Amino acid sequence: MTSTEPLLSLRHLSTEFSTTDGTVARALEDVSFDVHPGQTVGLVGESGCGKTTTLLSIMRLLPVTARITSGQVLFNGKDLLALSETDMRRYRWKELSIVFQGAMNALNPVMTIGEQIREAIILHDLMDKTHANRRVNELLDMVGIAPSRRDQYPHEYSGGMRQRAMIAMALACQPCLLFADEPTTALDVMVQAQILELLQKIQRLLGLAVVLVTHDLGVVAEVCDTVVVMYGGKVAENGPVDEVYNAPQHPYTQRLLEAFPDLNRPAGSLAVIPGTPPRLNALPPGCRFAPRCHKAFERCRVEAPAETDLGGGHTAACHLLEKAEAHQ
Ligand SMILES: Nc1ncnc2c1ncn2[C@@H]1O[C@H](COP(=O)(O)OP(=O)(O)O)[C@@H](O)[C@H]1O
Ligand code: SF4
Ligand SMILES: [Mg+2]
Repeated sequence: MTSTEPLLSLRHLSTEFSTTDGTVARALEDVSFDVHPGQTVGLVGESGCGKTTTLLSIMRLLPVTARITSGQVLFNGKDLLALSETDMRRYRWKELSIVFQGAMNALNPVMTIGEQIREAIILHDLMDKTHANRRVNELLDMVGIAPSRRDQYPHEYSGGMRQRAMIAMALACQPCLLFADEPTTALDVMVQAQILELLQKIQRLLGLAVVLVTHDLGVVAEVCDTVVVMYGGKVAENGPVDEVYNAPQHPYTQRLLEAFPDLNRPAGSLAVIPGTPPRLNALPPGCRFAPRCHKAFERCRVEAPAETDLGGGHTAACHLLEKAEAHQ
């Protein structure tokens, strides 16, 4: 943990989607966590738990069917949710940027990589062409793409190289906070390791803060300072990685880590926990994890647990922990 003020502070963020069958999916409820300057935060949880929605809510890039219903997204103390769209454009890509899930396939097939990176710079930074060209070269160098490949098209790139190009585009306007949504999922293991190394290198070089969404608990152990474990659109547990891994407090985190004994051997996927995450438009009353929780008791099925502060930046939301807080 650092003693600095957070760069980003999510405060009780809730987001919902209107679905085609007329129901509402409560994709995020009361999500709070902090990101400090230069820190790497891991965001983990099964598919459908709200990780991407969290990032899109922060960037204000949600689809039209989604609505942020409450909360604050404080960036250097300023609430991004209170800004007009015009003012938000001063932050998006320039202060906070994102490498999307599956973004490698989002490159324009009829433009060279160099042109696409230059477009990203000119679009957001209003730089002239000469400066933008120089910046393209800097960015390519930073992400390890040889200058000779600048004029090639996406189909001439491997998956790993395309992901490097996407990272270069995300960095085009010198953000200080980068979101990476499962940046290595579609890549083979060797290339995954190279992309993660690249992210770490860039982070050190630029002093970036990074929020990394990943399924790989080994990667979190290796590269993250803190971890936010999400379940069913809520934060189950949040804290320094060492502490959460050595003494997980939430039954969901415990289950995830139980099947992950060797931190030096990346598991590649989350543990298989019997059952499935709740459908967010048909939530059970009480704790969202109760139908799958091996420690659930009567109260869990009627009352949602509040977040318990366990000290040292470690929090978890489980009825079993409420006494722990009372004894602090
Ligand atoms: N476009 C959408 N329309 C309706 N519901 C959505 C949409 N995208 C996400 N959701 C809802 O939000 C939940 C969280 O999705 P998402 O943030 O993509 O999860 P994750 O990234 O953790 O896999 C989903 O379970 C679903 O209920
Ligand atoms: S509140 Fe109950 S159901 Fe939820 S995680 Fe804790 S013990 Fe399990
Ligand atoms: Mg996702």
